[in-house]
Amino acid sequence: MNAPLQEEFLTLQEIYQAARRNLPPGPWSYLIGGAETETTVLRNRRALDEISFRPRVLRDVSKIDSSATFLGQPVRLPVMLAPIGGLESIVEGGAATAARGAAQFGVPQMLSSVCQPGLEATAAAAKTVRVFQLYVRGDDAWVDDFVQRARDHGFCAFCLTVDVAAYSRRERDLLGRFVKPWRARAIEGAAFQAGLSWHQVKRFKDKYPDLPLIIKGIATAEDAELCVQHGVEVVYVSNHGGRQLDHGLGSAAVLPEVLQAVKGKAEVWVDGGFMRGTDVVKAIALGAKTVGLGRLTGLALAAGGAPGLVRALELLEEEVRICLGLLGVTSYAELTPRHLAAAQAVRQPDTFSAFPLPGGE
Ligand SMILES: Cc1cc2nc3c(=O)[nH]c(=O)nc-3n(C[C@H](O)[C@H](O)[C@H](O)COP(=O)(O)O)c2cc1C
Repeated sequence: MNAPLQEEFLTLQEIYQAARRNLPPGPWSYLIGGAETETTVLRNRRALDEISFRPRVLRDVSKIDSSATFLGQPVRLPVMLAPIGGLESIVEGGAATAARGAAQFGVPQMLSSVCQPGLEATAAAAKTVRVFQLYVRGDDAWVDDFVQRARDHGFCAFCLTVDVAAYSRRERDLLGRFVKPWRARAIEGAAFQAGLSWHQVKRFKDKYPDLPLIIKGIATAEDAELCVQHGVEVVYVSNHGGRQLDHGLGSAAVLPEVLQAVKGKAEVWVDGGFMRGTDVVKAIALGAKTVGLGRLTGLALAAGGAPGLVRALELLEEEVRICLGLLGVTSYAELTPRHLAAAQAVRQPDTFSAFPLPGGE
């Protein structure tokens, strides 16, 4: 329990509102913005808002287990902190602060290679279940150096983000003339990222057969199949929170075709627009194993640092538990797509349509 913030934040809506108050315009637009028209951002929410529940009743839900496993390790919820570059512009201490919140609550952190204070200091900050995410900005030897450092510092899996072959135009940042302080570092070596192909995935799996590999940024059944053919352990369905390719499908809408293509031969994770406990339950009912939290992590840290993140996760957990109970299940194993049905969204989706009540605009 997180006593000081329990009264301040009774709802996730208040976390969102506090973040909005606390962040200056530049970091705010960096956190919430997407590419160009932000159509993909909106579709992420729309895809979730267009799923409704089919609850079952009279099934003794007096004991509910909302814990999960993450690559074989026990965690408190089937969620993880998605990688966020530049967290240091959102909260003092950046990734180290996020690590402390994740460890205190009990969920994994996926650390971005472009987040301060970097791999070693973040690993030293807290004892989290942790995974390292790399933007490839160098040759094979450069990648191998990161693999070595990640292994040496207790990262249990390695992630390559592959939906960044070109750097997108985030128009909120451009319109607000916000230049990320880490921009030079972020674009250095971008040609290596553009030059990536399945060849590098094969090389990775040949060289590191015992290190689970996550490919983040899969948005089609075709590429999911290629992941499986290359022995990838985790297919991570993501459109980068709508921050890269504009006019993509919402992640929750892509999830079924990917699950069908993977046929249980790899784990499937997902992110994109997940803000509420019901969103998490929808993904798990569809068949995802873990849900990544991107902007929600940033909002929670901006609202209250590590304690704010813990509080947001407590609220998410409460929502998940209520949802499971009202669906008539006591664990995720009992959830199936039969608990879901297609429905029309009741309001126009936007980045924050998960927080629609007065003051939550
Ligand atoms: C501010 C910000 C920075 C991000 N930086 C990275 C990054 O460094 N590496 C990466 O793979 N994805 C990055 N992402 C994408 C997230 O990992 C995740 O895919 C996305 O945020 C999920 O959508 P959501 O924000 O709607 O939850 C970033 C997202 C945000 C909002």
